[in-house]
Amino acid sequence: MKRHIVGNWKMNLELPEALVLAQEVAGFAGDYPTLQITIAPSLPWLVSIKEALTFMPTNFALASQVVSPHPHGAYTGDVSATQLKPLVRYCLVGHSERRRFHHEDSQAIQSQITELCKVGITPIVCFGESKQSSSPSMVNQVLQALKRDLASLQPEVGEKCLFAYEPLWAIGTGHPATADYTTKMATAFKAWAKQAFTHDAPLLYGGSVTTANAAALGSIKVIDGLLVGGVSLHGREFKTICAHYSQRV
Ligand code: 13P
Repeated sequence: MKRHIVGNWKMNLELPEALVLAQEVAGFAGDYPTLQITIAPSLPWLVSIKEALTFMPTNFALASQVVSPHPHGAYTGDVSATQLKPLVRYCLVGHSERRRFHHEDSQAIQSQITELCKVGITPIVCFGESKQSSSPSMVNQVLQALKRDLASLQPEVGEKCLFAYEPLWAIGTGHPATADYTTKMATAFKAWAKQAFTHDAPLLYGGSVTTANAAALGSIKVIDGLLVGGVSLHGREFKTICAHYSQRV
């Protein structure tokens, strides 16, 4: 399975900086052919970045941070999957910041996944608990919440998704989940996904990924990639994360 490094730029960078960083990432992506390297810039910059990148290695792609749950129509401020299609290969769905600040719920998430899959954009479906807990029931609760997010979807649709385990308490805090904690959650996810889908569903980890912990996270066999926030805004560090992760055997 191809491993993924995804940079979620969130609401950062003005256009000139975004263009420079996108060029830098597209420039080094080809050095790590075992990885799929993807960046998710702010929405208004996608067109300019796409036009500016005259060369994109095949293992480099753009992602959107948002998509409307609706196909088209009177939804001011929304952008549809069809409108994104010429620009991106991936789209984040269900990120905790969208759930928190835009009240996106399971219904919206299912509709977004459906819209994306209709046009052939791969959803990156984010999930994770808000509080760290050693309770054995936590893993189950997290998976139940993910199942609710996918409830009305056919397995064929879920099979088209990448998944990203992002414990909320690890996002932007400088305190990533430990390898043991992540392994427990990821192993349970993989066991469930094996039943739900016909293939091994790819699972990324996100939450305070840095150059210092990328190699350790890379050694977790049940994790297939990393979703990087803050550090993805720094080309050299993002490259180092790719380099560490690509060394995984
Ligand atoms: P940080 O890497 O800044 O913790 O952000 C993680 C994240 O939310 C990626 O989607």
